[in-house]
Amino acid sequence: MLLVTGGCGFIGSNFIHLLRRERPDLEILNLDLLTYAGNLENLAALEGDEKLQFVKGDIADSRFVENLFETKDIDQIVHFAAESHVDRSILGPGIFIRSNIQGTQVLLEAARKNWSEGEGRFVMVSTDEVYGSLGPTGLFREDTPLDPSSPYSASKASADLICQSYFRTFGFPVVNTRCSNNYGPYQFPEKLIPLIILRAGRDESLPVYGDGLNIRDWIHVEDHCRGILAVLDGGELGKVYNIGSDNERTNIEIIRLILDNLGKSEDLIEFVKDRPGHDRRYAMDSTFIEQSLGWRPEVDFSEGIAATIKWYRDNPEWLERVISGAYKEYYSRQYGSK
Ligand code: NAD
Ligand code: DAU
Repeated sequence: MLLVTGGCGFIGSNFIHLLRRERPDLEILNLDLLTYAGNLENLAALEGDEKLQFVKGDIADSRFVENLFETKDIDQIVHFAAESHVDRSILGPGIFIRSNIQGTQVLLEAARKNWSEGEGRFVMVSTDEVYGSLGPTGLFREDTPLDPSSPYSASKASADLICQSYFRTFGFPVVNTRCSNNYGPYQFPEKLIPLIILRAGRDESLPVYGDGLNIRDWIHVEDHCRGILAVLDGGELGKVYNIGSDNERTNIEIIRLILDNLGKSEDLIEFVKDRPGHDRRYAMDSTFIEQSLGWRPEVDFSEGIAATIKWYRDNPEWLERVISGAYKEYYSRQYGSK
């Protein structure tokens, strides 16, 4: 059985949808705490799927996680669960340390206790933010030194290193992925792209941090998920795989593109105070995964972003329920009596 942690979040839910299309017979256990970012409605289309189980719980709760391993036959893990928003980590770093660092170690330890030698595979889903900020040239490679700027990225870097230490010290079967900025359906509207689509649609001001010239390497979430699946299937244990799309864009370019697509005025743009410790530029070198596993990004950015804007426009009720908090009721409706 494959344990997916954080399967109700943005990337985790897209990953489960991909698995269902590609691996209809795979037994999946989705473990998620349903924090503000966890939305079971992201998986509503899979209701009634008998090979997909959901369990609500905290990855940092060692008794709960150990019990889960004792009662379920888990032989693979894809670990998404995390606090993921940089701005929240600046407002309150504590939960990032608990969920992202402690939670990862609890999972590693439970798996290590339960798996015999030669058994199991753990994919740690990490981020390009662990490398810190690039100047105007150059790319992040897997051997670029870790130099995180925010409590979020420092917590992810710590978890990455703990995973690597489990490989080196215990021979634990772990592989790390580090991906750039994802866009696509089901992203919580605190992140740049869904936030701008939402606010522009309502003719509200669009907050641009600093000068708007910070650069991110945007990748469609489906390409990221296919990369994770390739690593789950064939990644070499102990290695790190960068996943990026060779698609650098400034924030202001992204915002103008969304405004243009929606037919809205650039007068909505409002430059605001910069994010403290704001990384200037991210850009990935994905040669290793391309050459060793044959993975390549497939989604063309102009098509992917147009489809993404359309998805949010076509699903106003999903957006409304997230904003109003009504999505939280879904859990009690689905599982309340169980
Ligand atoms: P998200 O915030 O949308 O989802 C996180 C999920 O984890 C939520 O469903 C939440 O309920 C769950 N969760 C949080 N704390 C938990 C805990 N203690 N126990 C169990 N579940 C918990 O995040 P996302 O954008 O989908 O990111 C998923 C992973 O991918 C994260 O590890 C993130 O660091 C990594 N990542 C994200 C991006 C990106 O662009 N979004 C890029 C690269 C890597
Ligand atoms: O690079 C991968 C990372 O991408 C992931 O590890 C993180 O989980 C994910 O949240 C994302 O981090 P960023 O900080 O890059 O994403 P965010 O959408 O928060 O911001 C993207 C850029 O837009 C960044 O330069 C900050 C800027 N921004 C963001 C918001 C929310 C604004 O200018 N205004 C805003 O209101």
